[in-house]
Amino acid sequence: MEIITTIASLRKRLERESSVAFVPTMGGLHDGHLALIHAAQQRAGFVVASIFVNRLQFLPAEDFDRYPRTLEQDCCLLINHKVDVVFAPAEKNFYPVPQEFLVDTPPIANTLEGEFRPGFFRGVATVVLKLFNIVRPQVAVFGKKDYQQLHVIREMVRQLDLPIEILGTDTVRAPDGLALSSRNRYLTPEERLEAPRLYQSLLQLGQEIKKGNTNFHELQESGAAMLLRHGWKVDYVAVRQQDTLAPAQAGNEPVVILGAAWLGRTRLIDSLEVSPLSAPVLGQVLTPFIA
Ligand code: PAJ
Repeated sequence: MEIITTIASLRKRLERESSVAFVPTMGGLHDGHLALIHAAQQRAGFVVASIFVNRLQFLPAEDFDRYPRTLEQDCCLLINHKVDVVFAPAEKNFYPVPQEFLVDTPPIANTLEGEFRPGFFRGVATVVLKLFNIVRPQVAVFGKKDYQQLHVIREMVRQLDLPIEILGTDTVRAPDGLALSSRNRYLTPEERLEAPRLYQSLLQLGQEIKKGNTNFHELQESGAAMLLRHGWKVDYVAVRQQDTLAPAQAGNEPVVILGAAWLGRTRLIDSLEVSPLSAPVLGQVLTPFIA
């Protein structure tokens, strides 16, 4: 595996590669990131991962300074998983002048995460567009854990006609259901025990929706209340349409439940895709015959 730290040398190295899959990360790698790497390896002969903690996507009061920086450990993992190139630029190389050209994001980016982290998606879209221009991959892989991020990137690629296929992969979880995240290492042992409740609350809402409950407003409230009762500070629990992230409507379209909440000083997010039962007939009539 090659570790490349400058834009110029990465460009030079990639000149001779015709089929590149790309996995952008901020490091602090875990099995969730590795699942993205594996998906990338299925899609292209050459895989580039980037590790760069992008200041542009952090609010001044957020955890930029204490965000895990574990480059050596990350590189060992990536070597073991047969990544071809790691791009790990220093900040002054990646942003040699103040980054004043920024990607203006659509209104959906001001909701959910964007409401609580203003400017977050502008920072994400800008760094990802810049990385895409440097790496010029055919495929790029993102996790569904950051569901809205995946949506914003897909829209950017679509609306700006970038010749890149965006692949979304399922969330990798600890055995107790907690979505793996670089930020989980901030949790105290007590908080770590409590943390799976975020996913549990999404699962509970999911069960209700599958049963046909379409009172989404009430469901959102009850999901948030369950977390509040256990000491969380809830930013949002929201039921949205999978395709557009617009508020879900009663009907049979697939929805996604998104949640973001604080446990002490740690902010966790998670999401769950749910397909409400369509007209009951098919499943009920066919099951006995299939069984
Ligand atoms: P980071 O949080 O490091 O995540 C990198 C990628 O890993 C993202 O696509 C994220 O959705 C995915 N990921 C994280 N945890 C996951 C899990 N448990 N299961 C599956 N995938 C998971 O997201 C970012 O970095 C940054 O915003 C970035 C896109 C790199 C731009 O700076």
